[in-house]
Amino acid sequence: MKGTILKCVSKIVVENHGSEIWSKCLETSGFDTNHVFMMRDDVDDNDTVKLLVNTAKILGITIQQFFDIFGDYWVNSYSVNLYKSYFDEYSSSKEFLLNLNTIHKEMTEIFPNAKPPSFDFESISDNKLRVKYKSKRGLIDIFISISKGLAKYYNDKVEVKKIDNEFVEFTYL
Ligand code: HEM
Repeated sequence: MKGTILKCVSKIVVENHGSEIWSKCLETSGFDTNHVFMMRDDVDDNDTVKLLVNTAKILGITIQQFFDIFGDYWVNSYSVNLYKSYFDEYSSSKEFLLNLNTIHKEMTEIFPNAKPPSFDFESISDNKLRVKYKSKRGLIDIFISISKGLAKYYNDKVEVKKIDNEFVEFTYL
């Protein structure tokens, strides 16, 4: 996983809990206590997941709660500053989502070695969209959390329902 994801995680923990807690998260996951993630780093996927799981444990919350915090911060604090033009280009979370394959593809040019997820979309009805999450990493729960952050950014009322480990259904209210 690209270091930008873990750089974002580090910001969340340091800003809200301080650098000592972050050092503890790093240490328990096998990283140097003062390790700094750079955006273009390649971090082993297992080490990434280990760090996410240990961070949630140290913060005393469930992994899903931590993913939700990450999803919110990733959209509403981190990406919106770095990649504002994407957020200006689209006018709703649905439109953004439908263009996510293109956005992620552009990321593979900015970040060599990036293997972002890709998505298939199927319109079930006027207000229902079924999305197939495609990634070897199996991080559909992070996808759901980022989607909720995206809905918050655009002030959209959306019900997000996980069907299984591949499919998510969005109902736009
Ligand atoms: C401008 C906004 C965004 C940027 C710049 C961005 C960029 C990235 C990058 C660089 C990665 C790491 C890929 C890798 O290391 O192989 C990634 C992963 C990921 N992104 Fe995005 N992304 C954005 C928006 C979103 C949104 C809105 C969602 C979901 C609705 C999303 C879902 C994911 C997921 C689930 C991963 C984890 C990797 C995986 O599942 O394999 N991203 N993104």
